[in-house]
Amino acid sequence: MRSLMPTYVLQVSYALVLIHLVAAKLPSDIKRCVAGDGKCIIENINVIFNKKNQGDESFGLTKLEPFTMDNFSIRQDPASPVAIYLTLNNPVVYGSKNVRATKVKGFGKTPEGRHEILLEAPYISMLSDYVIDGKVLILPIKGEGRSNFTLVEPKMKIVIDATSRTKDGKIFMDVKDLRVECKPKRVALHFENLFNGDKALGENINSFLNENWNGIFIEMKAPLYDAISKQIKVGTAKVFSATPYDEIFEI
Ligand SMILES: *[C@@H]1O[C@H](CO)[C@@H](O)[C@H](O)[C@H]1NC(C)=O
Ligand SMILES: *[C@@H]1O[C@H](CO)[C@@H](O)[C@H](O)[C@H]1NC(C)=O
Repeated sequence: MRSLMPTYVLQVSYALVLIHLVAAKLPSDIKRCVAGDGKCIIENINVIFNKKNQGDESFGLTKLEPFTMDNFSIRQDPASPVAIYLTLNNPVVYGSKNVRATKVKGFGKTPEGRHEILLEAPYISMLSDYVIDGKVLILPIKGEGRSNFTLVEPKMKIVIDATSRTKDGKIFMDVKDLRVECKPKRVALHFENLFNGDKALGENINSFLNENWNGIFIEMKAPLYDAISKQIKVGTAKVFSATPYDEIFEI
């Protein structure tokens, strides 16, 4: 009888080749940072936004410029100052190509725990088809058409809560929760075709919204953050499940 040894060796080496092929490698323009090295991690984040914003499947990176979002609706309490029902369809976000990371916390020896990324950008614009109905402060608003929400010079914070998972001897980060917040210098809003295209009324309401952007933003930011956070969480989780944490970082 032939020894079983050669078959066994073959199978083991075949398995090793497979593991090697399956484990994603970092793209050449992403440095393997020492875990917790904020300066190095900031440089990688900036390469992602500024150079790799068309996406990179090998790294699980979604296209960021423009960034396509799922449809979402905001239904505000009728008793609130901004008592609107707003649906945003086919939202597309522009401006991430100019995002810059300014500070990073976490991303240390273990993926477990809280990680934070501070970002800023000259602008972030979300263009969508909208349907709106309700009241803003005291004025009725109603219409359907194209809309433009622009955050001017936003400072953004992404907070990630993660756990660690080991698969085939490799450590992965599982994104459990991700929340986005932002402080814009100003918010520019524009709804085309309000009141069935009544120009005078539409322009009046648009000016009114822009003059009162701060109060409107305070009322609407929670549901906006929810919709955007959900989307960024999906993208972030994809990156961290494509490449093991201990290949992204030297731990
Ligand atoms: C978003 O809404 C538009 C317009 O109602 C619709 O055509 C499209 O299929 C929706 N997209 C998704 C992903 O549901
Ligand atoms: C959206 O609004 C911003 C701010 O007013 C403006 O700079 C930008 O050109 C607008 N985008 C489009 C596509 O109209």
